Formats: sequence, structure tokens, C-alpha cells
Amino acid sequence: MSDCKTYYLTTPIYYVNDVPHIGHAYTTIIADTIARYSRLKGIDTFFLTGTDEHGQKIEEAARKRGKTPKEYADEISAKFKELWDEFEISYDKFIRTTDPEHIKGVQKAFLEMYKKGDIYKDYYEGHYCVSCESFVAPSQLVNDELCPDCGKPTRIIKEESYFFKLSKYQDAILKWLKEKKPILPESRTNEVIRFVEEGLKDLSITRTSFEWGVKLPKEINDPKHVVYVWLDALFNYLTALGYGSEDDSLVKKYWPAKLHIVGKDILKFHAVYWPAFLMSIGYELPKKIAAHGWWTRDGEKMSKSKGNVINPKEVADAYGIENFRYFMLREVPFGADGDFSEKALIDRINNDLGNDLGNLLNRIIGMAYKYFDGKVTSENVEKYYPDELNEARSIISEIEEKYLWKMQTHKFLEELWKILSIGNKAIDAYKPWELMKNGEEEKAMALIGLIANLLAMVAVYLHAVMPKTTSKIADALGFEINNESFNAINEGKLLDDFVIKKIPPLFPKIEKPLMKKEEVVKEPENIITIDEFFKVELKIGEVIEAEEVKKSKKLLRLLVDLGEGKPRQIIAGIKEYYKPEELVGTQVCVVSNLKPAKLMGYASEGMLLGAKDKEGFSLIRPEKKKKTGTPIK
Ligand code: ME8
Ligand code: MG
Repeated sequence: MSDCKTYYLTTPIYYVNDVPHIGHAYTTIIADTIARYSRLKGIDTFFLTGTDEHGQKIEEAARKRGKTPKEYADEISAKFKELWDEFEISYDKFIRTTDPEHIKGVQKAFLEMYKKGDIYKDYYEGHYCVSCESFVAPSQLVNDELCPDCGKPTRIIKEESYFFKLSKYQDAILKWLKEKKPILPESRTNEVIRFVEEGLKDLSITRTSFEWGVKLPKEINDPKHVVYVWLDALFNYLTALGYGSEDDSLVKKYWPAKLHIVGKDILKFHAVYWPAFLMSIGYELPKKIAAHGWWTRDGEKMSKSKGNVINPKEVADAYGIENFRYFMLREVPFGADGDFSEKALIDRINNDLGNDLGNLLNRIIGMAYKYFDGKVTSENVEKYYPDELNEARSIISEIEEKYLWKMQTHKFLEELWKILSIGNKAIDAYKPWELMKNGEEEKAMALIGLIANLLAMVAVYLHAVMPKTTSKIADALGFEINNESFNAINEGKLLDDFVIKKIPPLFPKIEKPLMKKEEVVKEPENIITIDEFFKVELKIGEVIEAEEVKKSKKLLRLLVDLGEGKPRQIIAGIKEYYKPEELVGTQVCVVSNLKPAKLMGYASEGMLLGAKDKEGFSLIRPEKKKKTGTPIK
């Protein structure tokens, strides 16, 4: 990766149904860091971000607010752009899928695929998740109804649709995944391979039941269809470079993308559907697709109804955007889920940034002025401290290939912090104040020189993460961070002599949380009255018979005695957690006045209470055995 001439990287384009939050900020900040690093190295870089504005979800969100989809999209798209501008995200283009050039490009791609014979017309009948904008196969449904990705109820749709022959590309995609290993972290590769190996069904790529989308190319002349939003969205990576317009010079220059950064939620779209579309139109496939993990807050999933969504601007306003960037990239291993808490952020600022980095700079500023009127020289550093210098150089020589291009931002930063630790340890070990006392001035001066050079290395490599802060450090050390100093550091050159600048502390200690605590306003619709609660009739029951429902992965058929004379048949989605024989004779809590439902052809006359977490599912049972039919109050 280090020897490439151009570097094209992208973030997902974010849906405009919601304002930007910390998860979007995370993806964008990683991309910005990689883009800045690539430019610092002198690589011709193109960094794309933007907004995804079509589809049923946006149409419905707009309608709810009494706006047209376009008005609504304009408003939210602007919020994303404003935030990225405020965060000084160094994107080269901000694309919107409502841009006319993008629409033209999508139509061109659709027509190409159609002409190639990869698109045919049929009917789609099945489940659809509007929140994920995805078609859900019956075998993937949770409890025969819920979306496996977001947990929300799916809708059944039945409409005429054009299909893309995804199945045709199954083998080619598998080969690409196995041979090129394009997914980062590589540990995610297998889950995608498994998904493909289970068999790819042709993909529905148009919808007719709403209007907010790209129309089919006029050559196909079928005005009631709009293009499926994911096909529309994925092509942004090409249309942003001019695919579909007269001028495709940027496509020639930058395609294939070196890196698509996405969250793990949308890996399948990028690692399976997107390459298939590209193969169909005869374009090269992206080099890497990096999927990061999920942010939670104080251990909980963020959601609007819980009122715990983090506004990235509030964090940046309170703690500084660069400290926030450092925190996000340092706190979680790329690919793993991460938790945001103010405490963790404050710890990182006070310890890593304040103690390890800021204090090291302050210590040599202090010493340089105390002993040498602020003068610092690299002369004699090699003579007295070759081991320290070489250790730091060997760290620098590896971190890019091993960590940065692999998105291992936390390791990248950990390694840089090892260089700081070499510096802090050297001061403690060689005690410059004693050297001065013993008349070893040259060695004391070289020690200050050593630390200055270590800080210079760290500043240059940390620049992509904390551009302004590191520029201040470089300024104090008498140099500027740019491609020239980047190369000099990598060639092992040491700093020219300079007079160190006294600068105010970069990371003042944070004593208490700085973010305003918003009142968590419970949404009124979540609250029920005691009378409403008592409408639910709960009773103790005893399982007297249990068996598996044959064709279902999830369901057990139970007969439960509720003290009513005749036992009730209850169909419960607990097959993965309990064997039928373990249940017979045990007591359970039953919702007994639920309207009967039919599941897989069986009537179900009640529901069992249970609790599910990461470890699995557990039925709720009375602590002591109770008479069957006892009401639960
Ligand atoms: O999926 N933690 O858009 P989207 C970490 N329009 N990252 C998060 C996150 C969280 N809690 N929440 C969101 C779409 N993200 C499509 C993409 S691309 C051709 C079309 C980030 O607005 C993460 O990068 O739902 C995730 O993949 C993305 O936002 C989804 O954004
Ligand atoms: Mg989403």
C-alpha cells in the first residue's frame, strides 16, 4: 500500500433520516486520519463522503414531518456537511445521491447490467426491513418476523420487481474473497464467506410501491419502478469520480478504490453486492473493505427513545475535537465494539495525552531553559543514546505497514506511545539534574536532544490524528510537519539546532466531566398507567407436554396447564435454548389474555415470559412452586 501513487478512500454515505451521531463521526474520523496520513506521505489522495437520500425510509421520515423528501434531505444533508466542516474533515468531495450527475450514473450502470443480461423482471414476495432497506430471507427472520440486523419488525411486500442475477457471481465473489482477502480486519472474512457459501439468491433491485428513488433508464421505459436504494447508494463510489458523465478522468485516475470504510452493519452490501455489480459492469473491485465495530454509551445501545444518543459536536465542544479523535481511535481495537463514557475519555486525556505526551514536552522545555537558555541540539544524541534512538526508529519503520494501512489505529497509537515511554524512562534513568551536577553537560544536553527528536517522531506520525496539536508541538521544536519533514524523519535525520519555545500546556488536567448532562426525557408513549398494566393477565403455568415444531429452527410446541381444566397450546420461540424434555414438569409465567395467534400453522394461546442477553435466553419462573393458574401481581 505504501508504494501506491493514488489513494481513493470512502466512508459510507449516511442516510438523511437522522442527524449525525458518534458512530458516523467515528467512521468519518478514521477515514480522515487515513486520508491525512496518505497525503502527508505524498500520495495523491481522494477522500469521499456524503449522504444517501433516496428510499422508502427517507420518504416516510419526510412525510412524518410534513416535508417533501427533497426538502427533508436538503436539511439533514446540510447538517452532516456542516458538522464535517466544523470538524475540519478533509474530504475532497461530498456527494449526495440526489445530485443529477449521480442519478445519471446510476441509470447508466443499470442499463449496462441490463444489456449484459444480468437483470430480469419478475415478482418479489417476501419480507422487507425498511429501517435497513434490506430484503430478508425467511430463514433469516427472528421469531418469523423480525429483522436479524436491527430487530425491528419486517413488512411483507409483494410487487413487480427487476432482479439482478447475483447467483451468477457467487463463485467469482468467493474466489475474490479467498484469494485477495480484501476484508479488514481479516477475522471478519469468514462470516462473509459463510454467507456467500450458503447460496446467493438473485437480488430484487427495483421497487414500485413508492416513488422516492432513481427512475429506470428511459431506454427500459418502465416508469413505475424506482431503483433499489442500495444499488443507487453503492454506485456513489463511482459516480463521485464522474462515472456516467462526459468526463471520466477521475475514474481513470483513482479507480479502483483502495479502501471503503464501513460499519460492520453494512459489510455484506459492500463485500458481496457491490463487487457483483462491479463485475457486471466490468470494473475492477475495491482493494480493501474495512468494517469497524459498534459504539455504545455507558454499556448500552444508543437509541432515540432511550435519549442516550451522543451528539459528537457536544463532545468536541466540551473536550476538543482532536482529543476526541485520539480517544476514538485509541480506545477500541478496530473491528471491536467500543463504549463511550465521559470517564474513559477524561482518563485518556489526562493520562495518555496530559501525562505521557504533554508532560514530556513540558519537562524538556523546563530543562532546556534551566540549563541551556532554551537551546537544543541533536549533536551527540547518537553518541550517548544510540539504543533509545534505534528502538524508536524501529517502531517507526513498522507501524505504517503493520498497523496503519490495516486500520489498527489503536495499535498504531500504542506503538507511538512506546516512543514517549522511551523518552520518559530516559529522563528517569539518566537524571539530567545529576549529570549537570557531575559536570556531564554534554550528556545532559544530548538527553534533551534525544527527547526532542523522539517528540518530533511522535508529532509527525500523530499528525494525521491530531493535526493542530502536533503542529503546535512541532512549532515548539522549531520545525513544520509536512512531506519533507515526514521523509526526513523516515530517513533517520535528526532535528536541526533550535531554541525551544515555551508554550502553554497542551492538555490541561480535566478535573470533572465537562459535558452538560441532558435530562433523560422519557418519551410519553413509553409510560403506562397501573390500570393499563393490569390489563395484562399473567399466570403461573406448568408445562405438561413439549415437542419441537418440525420445520422451524426456533419454535417449540408446548401444552401448559393454567389451572383451567384444559391445558393451552403455546408456540414459543425457545428451541435454541431449551430441549423439550427439560421443560416438562417445570413452571413458567404466562401472558394468558393475549389474542391467539397462528405460528407455522399452529394456534398459540399465550406467551411465556423470558429474558435474553448476550449469554442466551432464560425463562422467568416462580422462585417457589405455585399452584397452576395463580395470578401474577
Ligand atoms: O447504512 N457505531 O447509512 P447509515 C459505529 N446509507 N458506527 C456507526 C454507528 C454506531 N453506533 N451507527 C452508525 C447506511 N454508524 C447507508 C450506507 S453506503 C453505500 C450506504 C456508522 O446512516 C457506521 O459506519 O445507517 C455504519 O456503517 C454507518 O454509520 C451507517 O450509516
Ligand atoms: Mg443504519
